[in-house]
Amino acid sequence: MCSKSDIERFNAQFADSTPEEVLRYFLDIYGDKIALSSSLGQEDQVLTDIILKINRHARIFTLDTGRLFPETYQLIDKTNMKYNIKMEVFFPNYTQVETMVNQEGMNLFYESIEKRKRCCNVRKIAPLHRAFQTLQAWICGLRNQQSVTRKDLQLIEWDEVNSLLKINPLIHWTDKQVWEYIKENNVPYNKLHDKGFPSIGCEPCTRAIEQGDDIRAGRWWWESPEHKECGLHKR
Ligand code: ADX
Ligand code: SF4
Repeated sequence: MCSKSDIERFNAQFADSTPEEVLRYFLDIYGDKIALSSSLGQEDQVLTDIILKINRHARIFTLDTGRLFPETYQLIDKTNMKYNIKMEVFFPNYTQVETMVNQEGMNLFYESIEKRKRCCNVRKIAPLHRAFQTLQAWICGLRNQQSVTRKDLQLIEWDEVNSLLKINPLIHWTDKQVWEYIKENNVPYNKLHDKGFPSIGCEPCTRAIEQGDDIRAGRWWWESPEHKECGLHKR
């Protein structure tokens, strides 16, 4: 457990550090008790590249909700092949999925925020908690610029809900920095990013955005911005 002052100390210590320096430090301390949770989005692909250049055995996992885009599944395989790794894939509990779908239908998420959250809980949060069972720290691709719900997030946080150290190495990066890194390092990325999808989640809950829209405008587009979190990043 980290106290508030430990977290403040870490944030001060790494205020001017690069993501690579931050990651090297924490990967070294936590070994196999730290992992990147990757949605295969552009930020997570950058982190995958940086992390594996530091330690090619570092842990990376993804949550397969069962409703991802075909392009995302292709990218999982492509990334595994490029880096010669096997990303850990966590699936939802099939009994919970069956109960939910049989009670509420396949696409319950469009009906209310409660039903959408139930689906996110079954398909994402419960598997995430299983992934956490072996972890003391997790690395995420969150950035302050992504949305109103993320503007106050810090580089290092204590995840009170899950009792884990949470590290957001790209927290201060701009979209431009992310894409420059991808191009310069030839990092594989989701082809949907070229088709107007800056933020990609499940297929039925993600659509392309218009020029000038908020980055996450295409996620759960029928909900208002302050609700657009699936619960993965509860504070
Ligand atoms: S979400 O909470 O709205 O889905 P977003 O897609 O912006 O989040 O991703 C933010 C961070 O959450 C990612 O950088 C990643 O660390 C984590 N994340 C999101 N979706 C997944 C997933 N399916 N599997 C693993 N990690 C994920
Ligand atoms: Fe279900 Fe949509 Fe949440 Fe995916 S994003 S888990 S489909 S509600």
